[in-house]
Amino acid sequence: SVTRHYKFDIRLRNVTRLCHTKSMVTVNGKFPGPRIAAREGDRIVVKVVNHVPNNVTIHWHGIRQLRSGWADGPSYITQCPIQTGQSYVYNFTIVGQRGTLFWHAHISWLRATLYGPLILLPRLNESYPFEKPHKEVPILFGEWWNADPEAVIAQALQTGGGPNVSDAYTFNGFPGPLYNCSNNETEIETFRLKVKPGKTYLLRLINAALNDELFFSIANHTLVTVEADATYVKPFESEIIVLGPGQTSNVLLKTKPEYPNATFFMLARPYFTGTGTFDNSTVAGILEYKKPLAPKNIPTLKPSLPAINDTSFVANFSSKFRSLNTAKYPAQVPQKVDKSFFFTVGLGTSPCPKNQTCQGPNNSSKFAASMNNISFTLPSIALLQQHFFGQANNGIYTTDFPAVPLRPFNYTGTPPNNTRVTNGTKTVVIPFNTSVQVVLQDTSILGAESHPLHLHGFNFYVVGQGFGNFNPNTDPPKFNLVDPVERNTVGVPSGGWVAIRFLADNPGVWLMHCHFDVHFSWGLRMAWIVEDGKLPNQKLPPPPADLPKC
Ligand code: C2O
Repeated sequence: SVTRHYKFDIRLRNVTRLCHTKSMVTVNGKFPGPRIAAREGDRIVVKVVNHVPNNVTIHWHGIRQLRSGWADGPSYITQCPIQTGQSYVYNFTIVGQRGTLFWHAHISWLRATLYGPLILLPRLNESYPFEKPHKEVPILFGEWWNADPEAVIAQALQTGGGPNVSDAYTFNGFPGPLYNCSNNETEIETFRLKVKPGKTYLLRLINAALNDELFFSIANHTLVTVEADATYVKPFESEIIVLGPGQTSNVLLKTKPEYPNATFFMLARPYFTGTGTFDNSTVAGILEYKKPLAPKNIPTLKPSLPAINDTSFVANFSSKFRSLNTAKYPAQVPQKVDKSFFFTVGLGTSPCPKNQTCQGPNNSSKFAASMNNISFTLPSIALLQQHFFGQANNGIYTTDFPAVPLRPFNYTGTPPNNTRVTNGTKTVVIPFNTSVQVVLQDTSILGAESHPLHLHGFNFYVVGQGFGNFNPNTDPPKFNLVDPVERNTVGVPSGGWVAIRFLADNPGVWLMHCHFDVHFSWGLRMAWIVEDGKLPNQKLPPPPADLPKC
């Protein structure tokens, strides 16, 4: 194993897309940001220097951060922000993980422009449990905002309404399709994947979009999924992939045996179950067989994608995932549960303050989102610091996050009267090595949408899922405790539920939240506090000296 050093200079840089030039926050002037690559067992050290007016933190999405919670990155959870002119060194080791992840800013909506691939290769002399690819290509799905995304969410939080939608989706920062800005600039803005015939390519797919689950497909080609959230899965074929924000997947693309002398469109567009119109565009890229083709060859063949609200396609797709579960990569599903939780997940409204008239839905002050009717407020000092130094926490947070919803929930026929949320910085405290089960129940009370729930600090096993109300008597016997998929982000189906299990073997403070940034901002988040174990190697070490102060 080696130590890999990186430097992230956070700088403003002018970037032009959709004929619109704006100054944006970047890492090293790049959009999307630079690639980080390491092998299992390596140490990664990234010095982040903030040269912009905004506060910044960086999160290494999906990295377990075993006993290195100080490097996790969510603002006000594991660290205070890195302020202008300051720097912070993120230092962590890759333990038992290989595959595709990504890094992104974890403060306000800065991750709209601050994100990049995080590639974990197997140890030296270790191979993939699938055919060795000819080439590996990361494809990041993102969004382009003509406006400043931070201003968009700031305004949305103030007025209490929903935010604008982005102006385009992107592949590796390019909106496509063949956007014609002025004269001859059409080609610049389209992502092209150049391939040779008869080869296998490993596409490292990353959904870094802020607010949309996306369908993805390449015309006339089949994809074989081999990995999800940096865990190996039993390979399966499909023409269409569904990827939620925060999810990553490795898929094999086999190119045609001979030069088809053609190009093919690849497309992505959102999955959204409600009546909203988030389908503001479809992003297109081009799969191009390298041959003496006429330059600027434009494909005609488009893949067909499911309808924007095709919930059964999504449920069917997510049910295909199984852990690889071989002797070398066994699924380690907790067979018994020490603590069981039931969390409702959904949108709601904040109560209108007394003696005020409010513009929000049902005379509320604004939209809110919650788990168990609690809309989580970010504290003013990082929770991990407060927890670690045990300063009786000065009322910064409480430890009474409820194990079941504050107000009883019944999916069928619930009148929308339990949409009101309670604000608070509430956490759940669990002892080291607790085996945890959480059933996440979507409420679909205001607006139907599936929520990509992400857990920091752990991978979890998705042991069950279904539509309607979770039934505590009849559903658990059907759980898959043999080879369920292991991941860090799972879509809670619109109008349904998922059950997850994880072993709390990582001391620290760990955020769990919806990876739609708009829901995150509305409060769809909570934090687990995992206590130290008794042995020295079960304790969180003290923070690094350069940990930013609030
Ligand atoms: Cu990728 Cu807390 O996030």
